[in-house]
Formats: sequence, C-alpha cells, structure tokens
Amino acid sequence: MKHLIDPMDLSVQEIDHMLHLADDIIAHKEKYREVCRYKKLATLFFEPSTRTRLSFEAAMLELGGSVLGFSSADSSSSAKGESVSDTVQVVSGYADIIAMRHPKEGAPHVAARRSMVPVINAGDGGHNHPTQTLTDLMTIYREKGRLDNMTIGLCGDLKFGRTVHSIIKAMSRYENIHFVMISPEELRLPEYIIKDVFEKKQISYKEVRTMEEVMPELDILYMTRVQRERFFNEADYIRLKDSFILDTYKLKRAKQDLCIMHPLPRVNEIDIKVDDDPRACYFKQTLYGKYIRMALIMTLLGVSADED
Ligand code: CP
Repeated sequence: MKHLIDPMDLSVQEIDHMLHLADDIIAHKEKYREVCRYKKLATLFFEPSTRTRLSFEAAMLELGGSVLGFSSADSSSSAKGESVSDTVQVVSGYADIIAMRHPKEGAPHVAARRSMVPVINAGDGGHNHPTQTLTDLMTIYREKGRLDNMTIGLCGDLKFGRTVHSIIKAMSRYENIHFVMISPEELRLPEYIIKDVFEKKQISYKEVRTMEEVMPELDILYMTRVQRERFFNEADYIRLKDSFILDTYKLKRAKQDLCIMHPLPRVNEIDIKVDDDPRACYFKQTLYGKYIRMALIMTLLGVSADED
C-alpha cells in the first residue's frame, strides 16, 4: 500500500506515468467513467479549502466512485478532542482511500501509520502540499510541453508557502532548472531548503527583492499569497501583504510564452486585469488539478481502464 505524504514519495517515473494517464483521461473521459465504481474517497479537511477538497471529490465522482467526509475540524469529533490517528483508524474502515488536510505539520504522516488504506496529504501546515505539486507539474507539462530547461520565478511568501517548498523539491529533479526567489527579506525561503535542495544538489538559484529586475528571464512566474493564517502578528501581515502585485504594466517586459501560475486563492497579488492575458494559466491550473488527482486516485487504488 502506498501513501502520498511528501512530493518526494513519488519517483520521476511514477510522476511521468501519472502525467500521461491524466493526459489520456483528458482525451478519453468516457473510458474512465466507471473505473472506481464501488470505491469510496474520504476527504478529511481540518482546515479550509475550495480547490483541493472539491477537485478531489469531483475527481472521484468522475471516476464513478463515491465521496464522504468533513470540511472543517468543527464538524468532526476532533472538536471533542479525538486524535488524528484515532480518526483515521476509524475512517479507513469506511473508505478505500483518504485525502487529508491538517494545520499540523506531519499529521498526514501520523495518519498514514494508522491507516488501513492509502492516505494522501492534501496540505499539512506550512510543510507540504504534494497534490498541488502534481497539479503544478501537470500545468507546466501541458503549457510548456516539457519539465526541464527553464527558469522559474517564485514570488511572494516563500517562508510559509508550502506549495513553493513542494514545487522546488519536485522541479529540482529535472535537468537545467534555474530558480529565482522573489520575496521580502522577512518571507525568504527557509534556510533548510536552500541547504538541503539547492546547495546539496548544486542547483542554480538567486534571491531578488523586485520582480521587475528578473521579469524578462522567466519562463514560469509562480505567484503566491502572503499566508495570513501562519502569522503570529497581524501588524506584520498588514505590512507585508501587498509586497508584490503583478499587473499588466510589469508584464510588458515578460516573455511572450511566459506561464503565470498561482495555487490560488488569490487575495491581491495578481491584478484581475491580468486574467485576460493569454499567459495567465492559474484557472487552467485548477482544472488540471482535477485530472491529475483522478490519475493519482487510480494509481494509489491500483485500478486501470484496461481492466474493464
Ligand atoms: N491551492 C489550494 O490548496 O487551494 P485550496 O486551499 O482552496 O484547497
């Protein structure tokens, strides 16, 4: 039984397989309509979500399966003090696969130890968000036609942004990737990622304080919001929240085939006028997220369309 807790739990070959499977699902949706018939997905969300929970549920429904679960800690027995491991041990008797989001880093790892069915980490605190990473890889693969040889700008809250930490780990496995970190000093990428990923693997990176100075270099611009829920001090959040706002003026110097991504939700960091620019990929990204989650569910459940 395989779980997905960390983006590095998947090999490059496994990711490659899922990207091709998701491609095939997009091209031949009818072939996959019943592959998860009689299978159940439980979504255990102890933290708010729109895209991740609903795309997981849509993915399972489009595969012919069923869904159950809860969308907030308040509506589960964790409000009465039940532990994550007890909750998961119980739910793994009700469902064939579990997607779980939790504010505590490492909670999905604890859950996986007690579960009788595959557990998918749907985001744990500021740590990892591996299915967002699969979504991001799918977006890059579909929009650029490759996962190697590119310069990726990561902009905004690089300290608390778990999607940023995960995409760095995942993309660092492909050839000739250059990273450009664009953030205020206070929201820099954590030192452990610089040491464990960039320095250990000798990956090219630089840190800058404005997006204007690097815009013409970028093939991907990955915007993130400042994560209000991770700040201890509201005054710091207010001071930093509008550090970077992408607008049509700043895009004038960008490449014509730039791919603008954002895990969403957006707060203020991309002007809505940018939505009409053909380089804006962030709404397409949410749709790719459903297809790659369909491929992930099928892979972890060991089902395929060919068995029908
Ligand atoms: N990208 C993402 O995780 O969005 P949600 O918080 O809405 O799930």
